[in-house]
Amino acid sequence: MKEMSKKNSGSEKSAPKVTISVIKADVGGYVGHSSSHPDILKKAETMLAKAKQNKILNDFCVTSCGDDLELIMTHKKGCDSRDIHGLAWKVFEEGTALAKKMKLYGAGQDMLADAFSGNVKGMGPGVAEMEIVERKSEPIIVFMGDKCAPGAWNFPLFKMFADPFNTIGLIIDPSMHDGFKFEIHDIKKDKNFMLSTPEEMYDLLVLIGSAENYIIKAIYTKKGEIAASSSTQKLYLIAGRYVGKDDPVLIVRGQSGLPAMGEILEPFSFPHLVTGWMRGSHYGPLMPTSQKEANPTRFDGPPRVIAFGFQVSNGMLVGPRDMFDDPSYDYARKQANKIANFMRAHGPFEPHRLPLTEMEYTTLPEVLKKLQLRMK
Ligand code: 13P
Ligand code: 13P
Ligand code: MG
Ligand code: MG
Repeated sequence: MKEMSKKNSGSEKSAPKVTISVIKADVGGYVGHSSSHPDILKKAETMLAKAKQNKILNDFCVTSCGDDLELIMTHKKGCDSRDIHGLAWKVFEEGTALAKKMKLYGAGQDMLADAFSGNVKGMGPGVAEMEIVERKSEPIIVFMGDKCAPGAWNFPLFKMFADPFNTIGLIIDPSMHDGFKFEIHDIKKDKNFMLSTPEEMYDLLVLIGSAENYIIKAIYTKKGEIAASSSTQKLYLIAGRYVGKDDPVLIVRGQSGLPAMGEILEPFSFPHLVTGWMRGSHYGPLMPTSQKEANPTRFDGPPRVIAFGFQVSNGMLVGPRDMFDDPSYDYARKQANKIANFMRAHGPFEPHRLPLTEMEYTTLPEVLKKLQLRMK
């Protein structure tokens, strides 16, 4: 067993690199914010197929999570590539045009900039990317969320890579025993820094426990190999006004010195509370579902997460496998619905409703202004 881990874990230096880019945007909801229109998915597929033909992409998979259009792409152009980001932007532009024609809801919601300027970061769409040297076998999972903020991945990422009660590999796999390095993004100060587990686990938790302030951006092995990469954009900080709830994406590599697929999926058996849901202004449980069940309708939710597994093979995506399409997640879904009932019973009261500073809709300034004259 020790032998096998060693054999598979080291990336062969001479092997060519491949980049996995997951770029997403809400270009229009069908109906309301609940789902995506099939014509828009078809359009995106046609455009990416052409890019594959023209050798811009190695391979791709188009899907949706609720009202978010998800482009999963492999290529050889590295992270932050102008060609790849430009291609995604073009797909979102054409998707928006189509959405406007059908008068879909919030058409072009995440297209905050008027024109593409080289990189979609900060322009509205969400991006998670990693450049890797393919291992002997390269299993990955792409997680996609709807009706939740980017901090939604903090809890499951900590469990996957630092909690031995979740990931037994941290204890019994010699190639994982050293732990991992976490790259943290301070979203309000827009600064990044590294923390190492298990040594700095308590420092890490005091920060990432506040998922509205500190977000796990990436995770590396102690040898510096990328293991996970998330989208950390926070749209309302970009736009300075309410424009949706981010609905983040996440790429995680697994096996051979990294958490096993089952260890990567295990944290989602507990539907932890995330911010988002109705009007981006509520706490609710994150419910793991198959892609076809990711159409949040109850109070525009509850928040959803889907997981697409792939074997990356010579730059191609073998898959997807819909990883939450599994009865072993039935209980998490049932629990999520119970928690949803409990939270909903609070109506407009905190802690179902977010604290004033985190709400993305508010009438407070107007209400206070109106009351000023009456205040004694
Ligand atoms: P690897 O060490 O080969 O990743 O095996 C672990 C495993 O698959 C257990 O579920
Ligand atoms: P989305 O961020 O998924 O567009 O949802 C917005 C919303 O207000 C739901 O009530
Ligand atoms: Mg929407
Ligand atoms: Mg959405």
